[in-house]
Amino acid sequence: MSVPSKEFDEVLRRLSAASRVTALTGAGVSAASGVPTFRGAGGLWREFRAEDLATPRAFARDPALVWEWYNWRRGLIAACQPNRAHEVLAAWSRERPGFSVVTQNVDGLHERAGTVNLTRLHGSIWMLQCWSECGAAPWEDRRTPLDPRPPRCRACGGLARPGVVWFGENLNPSDLAAADAACACAVMLVIGTSSIVYPAAGLTDIARSRGAVIVEINPEFTPAGADIGLRAPAELALDALARRVG
Ligand code: OAD
Repeated sequence: MSVPSKEFDEVLRRLSAASRVTALTGAGVSAASGVPTFRGAGGLWREFRAEDLATPRAFARDPALVWEWYNWRRGLIAACQPNRAHEVLAAWSRERPGFSVVTQNVDGLHERAGTVNLTRLHGSIWMLQCWSECGAAPWEDRRTPLDPRPPRCRACGGLARPGVVWFGENLNPSDLAAADAACACAVMLVIGTSSIVYPAAGLTDIARSRGAVIVEINPEFTPAGADIGLRAPAELALDALARRVG
């Protein structure tokens, strides 16, 4: 691939020298798999209103509508395969000590590619949890499609909700702590995210304040404030990097 060679060589050098590397990923990593991103051309938030579908208020108002949307997304994602970007990150997570992945994605494609040292900041579309927080542990349910009626909590029989983080909700404290710990790295690769949704977008500043070099892999410029930008699709840039760093 043709990544501007000066930046590409600099990233190679940094990656080869770094003992701790963290990849912070967003929807763009799964774009080549066919999973729609949220923003930009073809993005989900162009067609749907987040307030109607991805907030606790939306679920309280119309759980069937929210489940219909999640059911549709689950079916769409189930038909997708991890792409080269997921594969490279998975290989590095297994082969390079000190390599971790922090993702905002709920699609499960990092896991399917075999990624270890993975933190899911926004949960998983394949997990369900009790809407009334009866105390039942979240559970996995990979059926597609789910019954058109909203699923029920396995413990209390009340409504179940998708195990994802919605707008207006706090992130799981242990996930946040793991993400914070992953910011102690020499290189942070910020891949396929618009870097506008917090607290995830704030992780680059935390990493920078601890001395990390911020490398962005994204065809578009974002507010991530990268030190080095590879303006290319993740699946191509990561493939090219993997061929050189092993
Ligand atoms: P966005 O949809 O906001 O941004 C996707 C980014 O991926 C954009 O910057 C694109 O330029 C870039 N992109 C597209 N194709 C790419 C490719 N092949 N390689 C690399 N980059 C590519 O997605 P996120 O930043 O992940 O939150 O969105 C953050 C959060 O906002 C999501 O987790 C979700 C959403 O609302 C919740 O649902 C809580």
